[in-house]
Amino acid sequence: MKVQLYVPDGRYDPWIEGFAEALPEAECVTWEGSRGEPADYAVVWRPPVEMLRGRTDLKAVFNLGAGVDGILRLRDEAPDALPAGVPIVRLDDAGMAAQMAEYVTHAVLRYFRKLDAYEAQQRAGTWKFLKPHRRADFTVGVMGVGTLGTHIARALAGFGFPVRGWSRTARAIEGVSGFYGDAGQSPFLDGLRVLVNVLPLTPQTENILNAGLFARLAQGAYVINVARGQHLVEEDLLAAVQAGQIGGATLDVFRTEPLPAEHPFWQEPRITITPHISALTLREDSIAQIAGKIRALRAGQPIAGVVDVQRGY
Ligand SMILES: NC(=O)c1ccc[n+]([C@@H]2O[C@H](COP(=O)([O-])OP(=O)(O)OC[C@H]3O[C@@H](n4cnc5c(N)ncnc54)[C@H](OP(=O)(O)O)[C@@H]3O)[C@@H](O)[C@H]2O)c1
Repeated sequence: MKVQLYVPDGRYDPWIEGFAEALPEAECVTWEGSRGEPADYAVVWRPPVEMLRGRTDLKAVFNLGAGVDGILRLRDEAPDALPAGVPIVRLDDAGMAAQMAEYVTHAVLRYFRKLDAYEAQQRAGTWKFLKPHRRADFTVGVMGVGTLGTHIARALAGFGFPVRGWSRTARAIEGVSGFYGDAGQSPFLDGLRVLVNVLPLTPQTENILNAGLFARLAQGAYVINVARGQHLVEEDLLAAVQAGQIGGATLDVFRTEPLPAEHPFWQEPRITITPHISALTLREDSIAQIAGKIRALRAGQPIAGVVDVQRGY
């Protein structure tokens, strides 16, 4: 059995060592451009279109992330970019859900306890009490309650915040009010104090964080985007922050990464920027998950995380 790897940074050694340990029955090789040899499984992150196009040797392609926009977008370059009938399998948590819950909970608590305002006061040398928010009024909405969003929503509910979740199909999560579909979007958004975006990037969700959506939230609401930069209309956010409709935003992802030095977000103190670190791919966890799935596939068992290519996630 052969497992073929592609990672854009070319740092293969730790991956090859990890697979040798977790899946000793496999030979692990790197993809060598057009000289690539046939393999049974591909393990990739943002591969070039030539890697998978027209291949008939692969039994499954494993994506080294939860988001599959980077691999599905290859179809824009060539309609046959993905091997026909071969399952694309994404990472399913693999240590990311806990990281996301930490990042988002930290951001929500920072706004709830007005630490953003106290940080600004410290910069101005001001010692002043600010009236606290009421927990019961501090409703947080999580857009996308799949693997990561469910974990985030549960963590926030654990702090006693009223939490709403929005998904494409109905989902029941204990302690979280569920909304779904286009019809559920307005009631989900209406009056939220914090909006968290953890949707996959698809044609339906691109640019979803825009002026019309911001207007539905409570005046001075906060926005946390940990999904993809293309979800956010950046000019709309900047205008909404400057108008006071949005009180602040915590952004981990951007349309262009790294965020260009001249980007106006750097100069806006109410926008908090992190360099796409809210949930890192953890090598050991990812290799263990993929090795387990390869073994399950070889035993003819079903696996979780198979992407619906038409749906886009
Ligand atoms: N910043 C980072 O470091 C980082 C790291 C990892 C992942 N991410 C991002 O996080 C995203 C989510 O990951 P995940 O593992 O939680 O994905 P997931 O398990 O597939 O969950 C996606 C959720 O979004 C919902 N959804 C999809 N399209 C929708 C639509 N049009 N309207 C309403 N709801 C919709 C789904 O609804 P259903 O439940 O009805 O299917 C599901 O609840 C990834 O796609 C990736 O872009 C970012």
